[in-house]
Amino acid sequence: MAADLPDGRKTMGLQGARVLVSGASAGIGRAFALGAVRAGARVVLAARRQAELEKACDEAGGGHPVAVDLTDPDGAARLAAAAADALGGLDLVVSCVGVAPLRMLADTDDADWEHVFAANVIGTHRLLRACLPLLAPSAMVMALSSETVVQPRTGLGAYATSKAALERLLAGWRIEHPWTRFTTVTIGATFPTDFGNAFEGDLLMRVLDDWAVRGLAQEQMMDPQDVADVLLGTAETALGRPGVCLEHLTVRSPSPVVGTFATSLSPFTGETP
Ligand SMILES: NC(=O)c1ccc[n+]([C@@H]2O[C@H](COP(=O)([O-])OP(=O)(O)OC[C@H]3O[C@@H](n4cnc5c(N)ncnc54)[C@H](OP(=O)(O)O)[C@@H]3O)[C@@H](O)[C@H]2O)c1
Repeated sequence: MAADLPDGRKTMGLQGARVLVSGASAGIGRAFALGAVRAGARVVLAARRQAELEKACDEAGGGHPVAVDLTDPDGAARLAAAAADALGGLDLVVSCVGVAPLRMLADTDDADWEHVFAANVIGTHRLLRACLPLLAPSAMVMALSSETVVQPRTGLGAYATSKAALERLLAGWRIEHPWTRFTTVTIGATFPTDFGNAFEGDLLMRVLDDWAVRGLAQEQMMDPQDVADVLLGTAETALGRPGVCLEHLTVRSPSPVVGTFATSLSPFTGETP
């Protein structure tokens, strides 16, 4: 919805904006979707778990839940059709789907690669492709990426590779559709979310040690609500300023790394850091 700026220009914030959030049943996506509804946006919340989406809509006091698996070849098209019915068009798409097998590369098989790319890369591409006809001029598309792209982590090789591909994917979309504002958002460690729920305990303990040895573990993780609030504030400001594209954002805890472990050995390689 248009509002007046002090200098008389009109701008559009989240109030009345038409928003689709994928990965809205948990974590950062859920917090973003709730915040957007509360800010007056018209929001479609998408993920696989219908019950969790309905709970989120009840809590927010609005929103349109759409249960969909974005690894299903027809899923994105069904979601876009539901968004067209509910909202008529889209001003903002926020892609929060992210899955990560915790697996050493030596143990990462075809099924792991197929799963992680289907959800994180191909599923996102399908979503963008299906939503393209619905996007308003100068619409914003935010896709959540990971700090593992620039700081590789033991046990997250397939995940980091998929997020690197996701960032290249967004760059490609930006070149081919210059007036749509594609943003990749590098996210640092954020807890609690569902992200690491399936991480296997023993391997997790070992990789946490390894991340600390390599200076990749921070003392504090970010709260998903705080991350969502920062992204909501960013969207609120950027939506009505079509002359500015935020190509890349990095959202990380400012906290120091856990210790230095200068004399520790990597639990995997025996190397000194
Ligand atoms: N948490 C972190 O520390 C962290 C760090 C760096 C980057 N990130 C990135 O930030 C984003 C959000 O992370 P998060 O921790 O908030 O994640 P999360 O709590 O695990 O939530 C992921 C969301 O994706 C949905 N989802 C998963 N597979 C799906 C599929 N095939 N089709 C449709 N929806 C699917 C899940 O819902 P359903 O299970 O109901 O489908 C859930 O709503 C992700 O892209 C993640 O990679 C997170």
